Amino acid sequence: MSTDRHDTPPCAELHVHVEGTLEPDLIYALAERNAVALPYRDIDDLRRRYEFEDLSSFLDLYYANMAVLQTADDFADLATAYFARAAAGGVRHVDLFFDPQAHLVRGVALATVVEGLGRAIDEAAERFDLTVGLIACFLRDRSPEEALAVLRDLLSMDAGIIGVGLDSAERGNPPALFEEVFALAAANGLRRVAHAGEEGPAAYVAEALDVLGIERVDHGIRSIEDPRLLARLAAEGVALTVCPLSNVRLRAVATMADHPLPQLIAAGVRVTVNSDDPAYFGGYVDDNYRALADVFGWGPAELAALARHSATASFASPEGRQRLLDEIDEWERRAVGV
Ligand code: ADE
Ligand code: ZN
Repeated sequence: MSTDRHDTPPCAELHVHVEGTLEPDLIYALAERNAVALPYRDIDDLRRRYEFEDLSSFLDLYYANMAVLQTADDFADLATAYFARAAAGGVRHVDLFFDPQAHLVRGVALATVVEGLGRAIDEAAERFDLTVGLIACFLRDRSPEEALAVLRDLLSMDAGIIGVGLDSAERGNPPALFEEVFALAAANGLRRVAHAGEEGPAAYVAEALDVLGIERVDHGIRSIEDPRLLARLAAEGVALTVCPLSNVRLRAVATMADHPLPQLIAAGVRVTVNSDDPAYFGGYVDDNYRALADVFGWGPAELAALARHSATASFASPEGRQRLLDEIDEWERRAVGV
C-alpha cells in the first residue's frame, strides 16, 4: 500500500483554496498558453515576492496571479496538479474551496470555472483515489448583495457545489453581513463554513456560528483568546480547520513554536490540520503535519488523532469517512510498530 512509506498519516484536507495551489511554474506555463503578460521580470522575481507582512499583502499577490486562469482547461489543470500532489502526500478526501467572484471580476464566466474544476473532480477518484467536495467561498471584502447574486447563479446552473464558505480580508468585515447569503445556502441544503478568527477577533468566531450557522470554523486560532468560546467549541464538538504554515507565513503567529494549536487541543477543541494556500506558504498538508511533529515532538499517536478529526469533520460520505478512519488506524499500527 502506498501509505506504508509515509511518515504522515492518510487524511482529509478541509481547508485549501484551489487558487492557492497555483505554483510559480504553472503560473508561467499558463501565462504563455494564454498570452498573459506577467508583471514580473522572471520566475525568480516572482518567487522573491512570497514574503508576506500579513493576510492582505498575501491576498494582493494571490488575486494578481489569478490573471493566468482563463479557460476551463486552466482550471482543470490547476485542480489536477493539486490533486496529484495532495494524493501523493496521503490525502484521501478534499473539501475544496474556490473563489467565484475573483474570476467573475476578471471577466471569466462562472460556467468556465465550474466546468474546469468539475472535470478535474470527476477524474480524481479514478486517477488519484481521491474524493472531492466543492465549496464556493464568498469574498467578505465585497458586498453581500454581490455574494447573494453569485449564489443564486450557482444554484440555478447546478454547479455541483456541496457548500459555501467566506474568505478574503477579515478585519472590519464581520460574518453577520452575510446572514442572508448563508440562510439561502442552508435553505438549499448546502454545507456552511467560514473563515473566522484568523486575523479577526474571537468574537467573529462566535458570530459566524450563531448568525451564519456554520458547521466548521476555518482557522479559528484567535479563539484561544476567549476561554468561554473555547469551552463552547469543545462542548459542541466544533471542528477548526487550522493551517499552521499559513499562520506563520502570514504572521498570525510569530513562529511555529508559538502556535496555539497544542493549547487548542488541550482545551478539547476538535482541531484539524490543513494547507490553506500551499503554493504560497511553503508546504502541502503533509508538510504541515511534519512541521508540527518537528516543532512539538509529536509522534504517530498525535498525528493520527489529528487525522481522525479530519476524517470525522469532513463532508465526505459516511463510507468515505469510515474508509479513511480504517486507513488511519492501519497507518498508526504500522508507524508505531516500526
Ligand atoms: N483566501 C485565500 N487564502 C485565504 C486566507 N488564508 N484567509 C482569507 N482568505 C483567503
Ligand atoms: Zn483559507
